[in-house]
Amino acid sequence: MQWQSIILQKQNGVGLIQLNRPQALNALNSQLISEINLALDELEKDREIGCIVLAGSEKAFAAGADIKEMAELNFPDIYYDDFFNLADRIAQRRKPLIAAVSGYALGGGCELALMCDFIYCADNAKFGLPEVTLGVIPGIGGTQRLTLAIGKAKAMEMCLTARQMAAEEAEQSGLVARIFPKATLLEETLAAAEKIAEKSLTATMMIKESINRAFEVSLAEGLRFERRTFHSIFATLDQKEGMQAFVEKRQAIFKNQ
Ligand code: CAA
Repeated sequence: MQWQSIILQKQNGVGLIQLNRPQALNALNSQLISEINLALDELEKDREIGCIVLAGSEKAFAAGADIKEMAELNFPDIYYDDFFNLADRIAQRRKPLIAAVSGYALGGGCELALMCDFIYCADNAKFGLPEVTLGVIPGIGGTQRLTLAIGKAKAMEMCLTARQMAAEEAEQSGLVARIFPKATLLEETLAAAEKIAEKSLTATMMIKESINRAFEVSLAEGLRFERRTFHSIFATLDQKEGMQAFVEKRQAIFKNQ
């Protein structure tokens, strides 16, 4: 596959997708979103891959949906366009997905990061949903996922005023998991991804699924889901290996079986 807008690499059980439209600060157009999905299809099928990292450049994770592509669209164009379905598919992926955000994560760029399971960011990161300045609203999950991540007051303020949030506030608000110096962000993110990829893929996928349940169902229903999932993991060889390795005081070697 010849990629035009991304760079795809695989190493030590980790798939790294780097957005590569520097001329547009990685603005998300149909081709970029479609290539991200094709790369994710490949990485999800690959049994050697246990975790996926999505990164941009040092200056921009992504500066939003491509305004120049959207500017002339009318309602039927945008209604029938596959862009939004493709964007939603990123959030429906089953393997763990980490966003490594350096620089701008604005509009669709911030929304893309929010679709990942957690965000690591560099100390120069700037998050924002400035769609209101363009006469529109966030369109790929921003009003929902940002509100779930940081609460109504800050989400409302960011969307209504278009204020950008810097790394430190993003960490304090629960939007990002950790901040690193921009020079080491990718290295640190890949190291965390490798740690995840060493674990049983069945367990990591079940953890992801269970945590995401917390956003969709009542506590009682979520607990029932977690309990049944916990029971079912005792049907895997990885559970035997993980517990046996603890008893034998050695490192577990998971085979995703
Ligand atoms: N779409 C298309 N092109 C973009 C872009 C975007 N979202 N963001 C940046 N670019 C382009 C610029 O037009 C510029 O191209 P040219 O060199 O051809 O003029 C190039 O990227 C570099 O950008 P700047 O010269 O503007 O760089 P800067 O350092 O001065 O500013 C910035 C950086 C503050 C991020 C600024 O580019 C900016 O404000 N970008 C737009 C951010 C935005 O409004 N995002 C929301 C988009 S709408 C959306 O995302 C809707 C949705 O939810 C689905």
